Amino acid sequence: MQTSVLPYDAAAIALAARLIADGRPVAIPTETVYGLAADATSGQAVAAIYAAKGRPAFNPLIVHLRDVAAARAIADLPPAALALADALWPGPLTIVAPLRAAAPIAALATAGLPTIALRVPAHPAMRDLLAACGRPLAAPSANASGTISPTRAAHVLRSLDGRIPLIVDGGPCATGLESTIVAVARDRLRLLRPGPIAPDLLAEIAGLPIGGADGDRVEAPGQLARHYAPAKPLRLDAITARGAEWLIGFGAVAGHVSLSPTGNFVEAAAALFDLLHQADAGPAPAIAVAPIPHHGLGAAINDRLRRAATGM
Ligand code: TXA
Ligand code: MG
Repeated sequence: MQTSVLPYDAAAIALAARLIADGRPVAIPTETVYGLAADATSGQAVAAIYAAKGRPAFNPLIVHLRDVAAARAIADLPPAALALADALWPGPLTIVAPLRAAAPIAALATAGLPTIALRVPAHPAMRDLLAACGRPLAAPSANASGTISPTRAAHVLRSLDGRIPLIVDGGPCATGLESTIVAVARDRLRLLRPGPIAPDLLAEIAGLPIGGADGDRVEAPGQLARHYAPAKPLRLDAITARGAEWLIGFGAVAGHVSLSPTGNFVEAAAALFDLLHQADAGPAPAIAVAPIPHHGLGAAINDRLRRAATGM
């Protein structure tokens, strides 16, 4: 794949919006770091982010929106969250709140969680792209897994050359540090990731005390979210269903349903959380999943299945 680098202008945003409508991820500057943006309503588009980053695990992603009204349509924002949003959006603050049941967000974007991380960014390039796409965009930092976050187009190119179709070059990022992440509960705030916005300011605006994610300790990035796990027992590497198990197939293992009959990883990643939720809600007492080859996105799928099986 050829990676184009285009300066930020109307033509670059139009091309980026067309690529995103095709389900492809595009690198775009925000005021914090460059993001790798894709359609948050499409599981396959979100899976393509993971494929490009080569990330060996699925973490919930930040979903970017145009304004507070768009955020309210997707999440149930308590008064303290609205106070933070009014004061600090657009800007480098991410708010974690309960996801609305009818919100059109791909389960892979939230890694199957009942909550969602939302941010209204300030950078004009990302804002133009959100307007051109007319839909929420999931965007982690635009770097390959295990490398540092990019604050210039050249950093993105070094990390993802040949793996994404387009980098929109909007110059260096003003902040250069990923957004502050705060979870808002009725009676308190939890700082999930320290960032450009000071916790004291959040507490003052929200009128609530702020603590770390666990007591007063700030959790390490990557462990921020409790993982989704089904309530039923889950057996891995299953070729056939035992007893009343609900078998989720892949490739040659047909199952009751299939992650991907053709053994396609992007399709399987896009379907993963939906099929787990469906199995959990269905009448079968237990779930089994076919073997998934352990390379490419398969490694991330297996990581998540192992966590789901062991309740990690
Ligand atoms: O500055 C930023 O926030 C950049 C730019 C591109 O906007 N984006 C970014 O996204 O850093 P990402 O996807 O790499 O960060 C996601 C972080 C993860 O650490 C994840 O655990 C946390 O947000 N997160 C997402 N959803 C969550 C949820 N429902 N509950 C708790 N943590 C969540
Ligand atoms: Mg990152």
